[in-house]
Amino acid sequence: MELYLDTADVAAVKRLARILPLQGVTTNPSIVARAGVRLWELLPALQEALNGEGKLFAQVIAVSASEMVREAERLAQRIPGIVVKIPVTEEGLSAMKILKPSGIPLLGTAVYGAAQGLMAALAGADYVAPYVNRLDAQGGDGVATVRALQQLLTLHAPQSKVLAASFRTPQQALGCLLAGCQSITLPLDVAGQLLNTPAVTAAVDAFGREWQQAFGSQSL
Ligand code: E4P
Repeated sequence: MELYLDTADVAAVKRLARILPLQGVTTNPSIVARAGVRLWELLPALQEALNGEGKLFAQVIAVSASEMVREAERLAQRIPGIVVKIPVTEEGLSAMKILKPSGIPLLGTAVYGAAQGLMAALAGADYVAPYVNRLDAQGGDGVATVRALQQLLTLHAPQSKVLAASFRTPQQALGCLLAGCQSITLPLDVAGQLLNTPAVTAAVDAFGREWQQAFGSQSL
């Protein structure tokens, strides 16, 4: 499977790259805007935080197919290997069809339905990103959508991967992995929830305390 962080926090990426088996970092315009950094400065900094290894994902801002194509080409030129995120609108689907022969890696984003995700895969998206928590928040079932999308891609577009996104809890992410999806991108707070479980900390503290009571500061 592939594990990504969904963030523009360079320091956090640097720290977590030492801990997690990260394949890279995903961003979107809101994440970049909230971080208050310029994309062209952020992307090289993220690359460095990943020690030059790992994929970066950045999204086009344009809404027309021709402008999306121009932005995608610009991103690919400046950051070789970048995966360009394109919203799966009518214009986005058209842009993906135009871009596919260029070999620029593509991700279809803002996916709220399995059929929409399948269309992106058929248009040439290497990854398709369903928004799990946003679906749950509007009364849908994010994990069920991921399961259906994964089945559709396996059957009809096996060259594309589901990259499940938009999580608020580790349970949502695990649900997607159990549903068969091969890649997930976690916001920092969800990655933190996965790593910092109070019961684990308490158990490890107890091991140390009881060892110290019996043997003092003696190490192995
Ligand atoms: C991924 O493609 C999306 O940009 C992102 O995961 C959306 O997450 P949010 O619902 O937390 O904004």
